[in-house]
Amino acid sequence: MEPIRMGMVGAGWIAQDHRRVLESLPEAELVAVCDIDGERATALAAGNGARVYQDWRDLLDREELGALVVCTPPATHREPAIAALDHGLPIYLEKPIARTPEDAAAIVAAAERTGTVCAIGYQWHALDLLEDLPELLAGQQIGLLAGASIGPTQRRPWFVNMRAGGGNLLERGSHHMDLARKVAGEVAAVQTAAGRVRLARSGGEDGDTDDALTIVLQLASGALATIVVAWTQSGQPGNYGLDIVASEATLRLALDPDFTLTGMSRGQQVTRQAGSHPMERSMRTFLHAVSERDPAAVICRPPDAAATLAVAVAAERALETSRAVPVESP
Ligand SMILES: NC(=O)c1ccc[n+]([C@@H]2O[C@H](COP(=O)([O-])OP(=O)(O)OC[C@H]3O[C@@H](n4cnc5c(N)ncnc54)[C@H](O)[C@@H]3O)[C@@H](O)[C@H]2O)c1
Repeated sequence: MEPIRMGMVGAGWIAQDHRRVLESLPEAELVAVCDIDGERATALAAGNGARVYQDWRDLLDREELGALVVCTPPATHREPAIAALDHGLPIYLEKPIARTPEDAAAIVAAAERTGTVCAIGYQWHALDLLEDLPELLAGQQIGLLAGASIGPTQRRPWFVNMRAGGGNLLERGSHHMDLARKVAGEVAAVQTAAGRVRLARSGGEDGDTDDALTIVLQLASGALATIVVAWTQSGQPGNYGLDIVASEATLRLALDPDFTLTGMSRGQQVTRQAGSHPMERSMRTFLHAVSERDPAAVICRPPDAAATLAVAVAAERALETSRAVPVESP
């Protein structure tokens, strides 16, 4: 089969990871990249002969594509995502689905209206180890999830600005909100607290995102989930994982850079390793959905990611009001 001709809009940090994944997959070929910053687009295209654009509209008009990866900042997802879907062009849209519930609803509606394949890039959702949990926890109740997302990350202008990018809460915390929903079901209400110490920006640089946050999710099942996010300085070690405590099991899912599931369930030792990197699995599954023209075959669909955004929006509101905030279903 001919490789799927791929375009990419947004040539920043995560685009480089997608480029590496696409280069490793015979079923895809990156043929066009776009960034409003021409130097970034040119750098991403270097070495693979992809054509370079500075306006995604030109890219959509001039290229014959089989799929598009959209990895611009969250507040700019809506326009290129909907334009591509309206062209019937499948998209792999980076998480979060959007910055606002209104933009998310518009993307969900466009995917629904056009019947076009649309995957949202919450890659931990694609971790094959998650598929072992129903069997390991059969007949048990999950009581507590404890997620950690502690480590350095890239300083991007929109990321440090809460209004533009939702800061650590949306950019990093929402990976764990998505994971908690996948593992233990819907979230009923949220509480959030933030520390005042600047861990990553001790020099006092700009931005209003909180460097340390704790988010508490009250799950509809009655279980509790905590998410601890800390943005630390480059070179400090990371800690990414999820502890799962159930009536007869205590498990630890290690996330990034190694993906493992360890612990004990009903007295049996559990030691499992992921079969593939979730970023690659997420993209491979998307490409398969594209070739099958099956919107249901992707791992994280737009309505699912919109439900995760609703949790993040409630968490933001909880931070502003210092109260528990119910999650409004999108
Ligand atoms: N899945 C993950 O683990 C993960 C990790 C990092 C970022 N992300 C997500 O990926 C997206 C991009 O993040 P990033 O870290 O690569 O950001 P970045 O700032 O490094 O890159 C974004 C790029 O988009 C470009 N851009 C902005 N508006 C544009 C437009 N209208 N048209 C074309 N290009 C435009 C910018 O010039 C920039 O080069 C965000 O949604 C972010 O949340 C996901």
